[in-house]
Amino acid sequence: MCGVMGYAGPEQAAPILLDGLRKLEYRGYDSAGMAVLNDGSIEVKKCRGRLQLLSNLTHDGQDMPGHIGIGHTRWATHGEPSDENSHPHLSNSGRFAIVHNGIIENYQALKDKLISRGYTFHSETDTEVIANMIEYYDQGDLVQTLIKVLHRLEGSYALGVLSVAEPDHFVAVRKDSPLIVGRGEGENFIASDIPAVLNRTRDVYLMGDNEIAVVAADGVRFFNMDAEEVEKDIYHVEWDVSAAEKGGYEHFMMKEIMEQPKALRDTIKPRIKNGRFVLDDLKFDADWLNSLGRIYIVGCGSAYHAGRIGKDLIEKMLSIPVEVDIASEFRYRNPLLGPDQLVIIISQSGETADTLAALREAKKHGARTLGIVNVVGSSIAREADYVLYTWAGPEIAVATTKAYTCQIAALEILTAYLGQETGRLSDDQLQRLQADLLSLPVLLKDQLERPEDVQYLASQFFNCKDIFFIGRALDYSLTLEGSLKLKEISYIHSEASAAGELKHGTISLIQKGTLVIALVTQPRLREKMISNIREVKARGAVVLAVALEDDSAIADTADYVIRIPHVSPDLEPIAGIIPLQLFAYYVAALNGNDVDKPRNLAKSVTVE
Ligand code: F6R
Repeated sequence: MCGVMGYAGPEQAAPILLDGLRKLEYRGYDSAGMAVLNDGSIEVKKCRGRLQLLSNLTHDGQDMPGHIGIGHTRWATHGEPSDENSHPHLSNSGRFAIVHNGIIENYQALKDKLISRGYTFHSETDTEVIANMIEYYDQGDLVQTLIKVLHRLEGSYALGVLSVAEPDHFVAVRKDSPLIVGRGEGENFIASDIPAVLNRTRDVYLMGDNEIAVVAADGVRFFNMDAEEVEKDIYHVEWDVSAAEKGGYEHFMMKEIMEQPKALRDTIKPRIKNGRFVLDDLKFDADWLNSLGRIYIVGCGSAYHAGRIGKDLIEKMLSIPVEVDIASEFRYRNPLLGPDQLVIIISQSGETADTLAALREAKKHGARTLGIVNVVGSSIAREADYVLYTWAGPEIAVATTKAYTCQIAALEILTAYLGQETGRLSDDQLQRLQADLLSLPVLLKDQLERPEDVQYLASQFFNCKDIFFIGRALDYSLTLEGSLKLKEISYIHSEASAAGELKHGTISLIQKGTLVIALVTQPRLREKMISNIREVKARGAVVLAVALEDDSAIADTADYVIRIPHVSPDLEPIAGIIPLQLFAYYVAALNGNDVDKPRNLAKSVTVE
């Protein structure tokens, strides 16, 4: 959701800004722009549409001279996608330019005040208000002025600000929207995410809320809200630039699906040492752990789906009650939070606004919080009491795949660890879990080496109007994820239903030829699923079953079958989602859709 990029260095800024913005395209956007400081004035170029248009407009940036600049890809919130609403925005005099990711909640009141003082506005955005406030409060020192303005803003922001009066640097700050600073050799950067700077530097500063960075070619200085200079540690990015590139695949999504064995191995292996589950970062005290009364799991979208699987695992293995919540609902339903509870917050990006708000709500009520997060140093990782990283590597495609399966693996590991530390799991159970987890990457690798069956089935069904998914227990959670994956990238209407619930309403939509994907991966529920498959077939449905490799009899009931390897039932959700990810991918690709950047969606949803 919006991409911010900034450059200060010896080279021409605009081509570097364009290059960085391209790496941020995955975040989702509808317009783009750049502002560059040159010869005592700020030049702005911006337009609605893809980055290529901005690139054409500026001859790949060559038409914009200057060594210091800021760039932006906009995902519209205030005002439609248009040239005028695109960022950067200039203040009335043209002395300040600004790019912004986030939402200023009190912008209307601030705008009214500025209008009453003679300011005029050229866009419908909340961002233009910030540009004019900076001008209004200008005291000759951009950091001091910015602090005054920040005190008056309510909402979230990652900002890059250029000032004509300070031509050697630009200034950046964030609150509840992501921003990193890249430290290069004689050049420095800001960006919404690390991949944007990775081909120029691997040394980054992870910005905290309301830390202000003054970014010049020869160095970066940081200030707090009292304008005192502060020191920050460098974070060295270990992963390779190729991790954020397509590596020969047509789409990031396919690359990320195929990377799952490695991502899972990286997430699982370091947590199992000498026959024990080792989570060094979780320093729970034994008394609290033994008195743990309830666990909440909170996330959005796929992270919520992973959380549902976590609930089943924890309740079954540890007999601790678990509630699982959609993050945007959590704080509005008054959950009964308290100090004897653990709230597990799941997020790939670590920046999702609703999930972050749920974390803060939990902390406010004294519960302990644990983030299962993929992006190192993200807001949720920094604010949670404990962090369990999924080591999936950068995930660029909007539709999550490898981060999702790693979230389930992290929940398995956490469950095992809690069982080990509280004595709720026996040594035998722990040994079995370790063996299952360690063998999983190899099994998935085999499974991923044969995607042709799923590809063929996608070619049979890619022009369906509706696709239904049914399953029970863990498989029901999988249907939710499979259906979400399909609809978000293929734009085909899809619904997931608990198989037994279907006849309480949704079955009225099943007609001759409707495709129903039935998950039958839980041996104990197999017969019940067979009955549900018969129910939809009796209404004319075509049934595609996802079943275990040794369930040969399923072919007697279903029209088509996709086989998955026989892993332990608790890990089946990981093996079971692979064909559904592939199916969604192939259906979307066959429909000619922009698989990595589906319409209306953003990778990191930083607004409520
Ligand atoms: C679906 C998808 C989204 C995310 C959701 C939460 O493919 O990617 O549903 O799972 O927006 O995002 P994070 O995990 O970054 O909090």
